Amino acid sequence: MNAEQIAMVQSTWAKVLPIKDTAASLFYGKLFELDPELRPMFKASLEEQGAKLMTMIDAAVGGLGDLGALVPAVQDLGRRHANYGVVDEHYDTVAVALLWTLEKGLGEDFTPPVKQAWTETYLTLAGVMKGAAAKMAA
Ligand code: HEM
Repeated sequence: MNAEQIAMVQSTWAKVLPIKDTAASLFYGKLFELDPELRPMFKASLEEQGAKLMTMIDAAVGGLGDLGALVPAVQDLGRRHANYGVVDEHYDTVAVALLWTLEKGLGEDFTPPVKQAWTETYLTLAGVMKGAAAKMAA
């Protein structure tokens, strides 16, 4: 990711933050519509879960300029996700739900380059999480 893309992700995330509770509920609504079988994997209340998810995205977005520093925490997150029963293909479903949520939340600010920058952000995080999970399984 280049500096321009990082700036795009950070500035659009700043617009989502004020509506993060709505964004979280849009996200889970879409996720469970895409794959209802994911619903039972979530034990905590969706409010609680949504708050954690937004905090994590916030940390990741803030840390994009120095991804190296973020890697150990994201690896830990990936290993915990394997223990929650998350498998690689679930990451694709979450990607669709996340990009859809950003599109809803950002409206016309969700331009093709913004979508591309968010896609790369997500793929980077998901790649680190899946990699750590695979190493743990090996
Ligand atoms: C970049 C991708 C993702 C991020 C940043 C993320 C973030 C988080 C965070 C911060 C938590 C709170 C608990 C913890 O820290 O361990 C969590 C829990 C969880 N996540 Fe994710 N997640 C991602 C991808 C996924 C995917 C692909 C799935 C698959 C459906 C998933 C399912 C879950 C489940 C089931 C829990 C535990 C819920 C519970 O115990 O109630 N996550 N996630």
